[in-house]
Amino acid sequence: MRYQIDVPATTANLGPGFDCLGLALDWWNRIVVERAAEWKIQVRGLSENIPADKTNMTVEHMELFFKRIGKPLPPARVVMTNRIPIGRGLGSSAAALVGGLLAGNALAGEPLSRFELLELANEFEGHPDNVSAALFGGFTVSTFQGARVTSASVEPPRAWRAVLFIHDHALSTKFARQVLPKKIPRADAVHNIGRAALLTFAFLTENPDLLEVGTQDRLHQPYREHLVAGMPELLAAARAAGAGGAALSGAGPSLLALTASSRIATRVRDALRETARARQVNGSVHIVKLSAEGARVTPM
Ligand code: HSE
Repeated sequence: MRYQIDVPATTANLGPGFDCLGLALDWWNRIVVERAAEWKIQVRGLSENIPADKTNMTVEHMELFFKRIGKPLPPARVVMTNRIPIGRGLGSSAAALVGGLLAGNALAGEPLSRFELLELANEFEGHPDNVSAALFGGFTVSTFQGARVTSASVEPPRAWRAVLFIHDHALSTKFARQVLPKKIPRADAVHNIGRAALLTFAFLTENPDLLEVGTQDRLHQPYREHLVAGMPELLAAARAAGAGGAALSGAGPSLLALTASSRIATRVRDALRETARARQVNGSVHIVKLSAEGARVTPM
């Protein structure tokens, strides 16, 4: 049996929800996998520096999956088509990881539920924000205690759009985590708790008026600003052009603006292009729909 696995790009944090909030985007990687007599691994699309062998992150996670269920990984033919920009804060690693676990699960006859896969993914990734949105779709809130992950998701408003400014260069999440302080003032924690809750309400009640305050952050963005060219100017330009809210996407460097309609998204896109040009920041701007759906596994 052959399986087609589609995994969405995701944006995490959305400002205040550091390591907890995620959102699935309508932008997909595809993996086609089937048992075979011998290994054959192909990487298509965005394939620069992506190994087409067993050190490939997706294949590594197929292997980890089989190890976890106590069986040897059978040889397989795996064809990956990567469309999610790599190392930009749009969940490309989470997609590779989730894709690998889902491919393993499919080949093994689906012994694990999505919640069990989420816990496994969190064990490997260390934070459940992107993986949860990639598995379940929509706007997700996830938190964990030890190995146990609690996660809830809600369908995002259909008319809302994400406008993404994607820098031409990558930023390692590991490095972007090293610049964060170990301790934070209580006032900053209170600032973020209120805003993360407000942002959740914005999605639940489909109220874009809550996005402006709901995407503000004091836990990570101020410490990462120096790593991201043009960050304050681009965020300010997006808000001035009508975005409900704007934030660093995951650990960056991409920036996310949320708009209440595609008409406003066009204005925000133009403003981001103009500001990037004026500030000589190299990157591209994309308007993307939000995805109510998480990863899909389709037997072929
Ligand atoms: N929440 C992570 C971070 C990135 O900001 O470092 C996405 O998992």
